[in-house]
Amino acid sequence: MEMRGVGEKERVCVTGAGGYVASWLVKFLLQKGYIVHGTVRDPCDKKNAHLKDFENASENLQLFKADLLDYEGLCAAIDGCSGIFHVACPVPVGTVANPEVDLIEPSVVGTRNVLNACLKAKAKRVVVVSSVGAVMVNPNWPKDQAMDEECWSDRDSCKTTKNYYCLGKTIAESEAFEYAKRGELDIVTVCPSIVIGTMLQPTINASSLLLLTMLKELIWESDENESMEDKTRHLVDVRDVAEAILLVYEKPEAKGRYICTSYTMKMQALANKLKDMYPNYNYPKSFTEVDDSGKLSSEKLQDLGWKYRPLEESIVDSVMNYEERGLLLKK
Ligand SMILES: NC(=O)c1ccc[n+]([C@@H]2O[C@H](COP(=O)([O-])OP(=O)(O)OC[C@H]3O[C@@H](n4cnc5c(N)ncnc54)[C@H](OP(=O)(O)O)[C@@H]3O)[C@@H](O)[C@H]2O)c1
Repeated sequence: MEMRGVGEKERVCVTGAGGYVASWLVKFLLQKGYIVHGTVRDPCDKKNAHLKDFENASENLQLFKADLLDYEGLCAAIDGCSGIFHVACPVPVGTVANPEVDLIEPSVVGTRNVLNACLKAKAKRVVVVSSVGAVMVNPNWPKDQAMDEECWSDRDSCKTTKNYYCLGKTIAESEAFEYAKRGELDIVTVCPSIVIGTMLQPTINASSLLLLTMLKELIWESDENESMEDKTRHLVDVRDVAEAILLVYEKPEAKGRYICTSYTMKMQALANKLKDMYPNYNYPKSFTEVDDSGKLSSEKLQDLGWKYRPLEESIVDSVMNYEERGLLLKK
């Protein structure tokens, strides 16, 4: 890695810069004075146009065209960067046609390509965004014990439950630590739970559908959809995730994996909370019981100095965001 000159700004790369989480990360990095290389699959696509409107973007943001399977493209984006934030990964809504090609390959081979490019660039630190999907698919973990960073999803359980997104994240994250173990790269991972909150990008990402479908009356108008499974959900605000990613990058003592989650709620309790705050939307009329209580701990991240905002703030900002963008009719 080349030494920076006195007063020179730090150059970092964010993969999948136009996505939900990455957009907030890019925004915060630019605000803090970093020079940011963002990889996107198509720099001319208007779905990435919002990035150019961020404060300091005109001087300090450069977009690079790179698919996760395009090693050369990734090398060009990562070259000269001391820090790399690997955020890109397909996050599906529902099932995908060909999980091997659509999920596993971009997740696993993509992460390998990014890490090899980081090696080539002699990166100082790499933050890989994993998921609680790489933590929680573990039937052998004691039920009464909160899952922490020691808990890894079981690959066979991911396969038998056809949870290919979780399988890809699990393989990719554990492979990343192989690079770290070999002393090749300084790697820290962040494993967020379901991310909610304001979208900066123009397209709707998968996890934003959780609140949107709860609030959007049309979904619940037909009888068949009136009942919803009362699943346990672990939630975290997108700004808190972006701040966690920055925190583990900037704190030299950060090490290993960090679960990033703020609230655990049953879906019915979440619907009741939304109903209290916004009584005029239509909500699912009934819930079917599901026994899936799982505890998850973010203690390690909090010990590093991470704080999270109140759930009410995430909800209010989300609803405002959806209403402003016409995704939700104001009631
Ligand atoms: N949102 C959540 O609830 C959640 C929870 C835990 C972990 N995560 C992790 O957080 C990260 C960001 O997720 P997100 O919610 O921000 O999702 P998102 O908005 O869908 O963003 C995903 C990004 O990955 C890019 N991407 C997908 N496949 C790619 C490929 N083959 N080559 C290059 N880029 C590719 C997408 O680019 P295009 O726009 O070109 O498709 C997009 O920019 C992911 O690693 C995800 O696994 C998310």
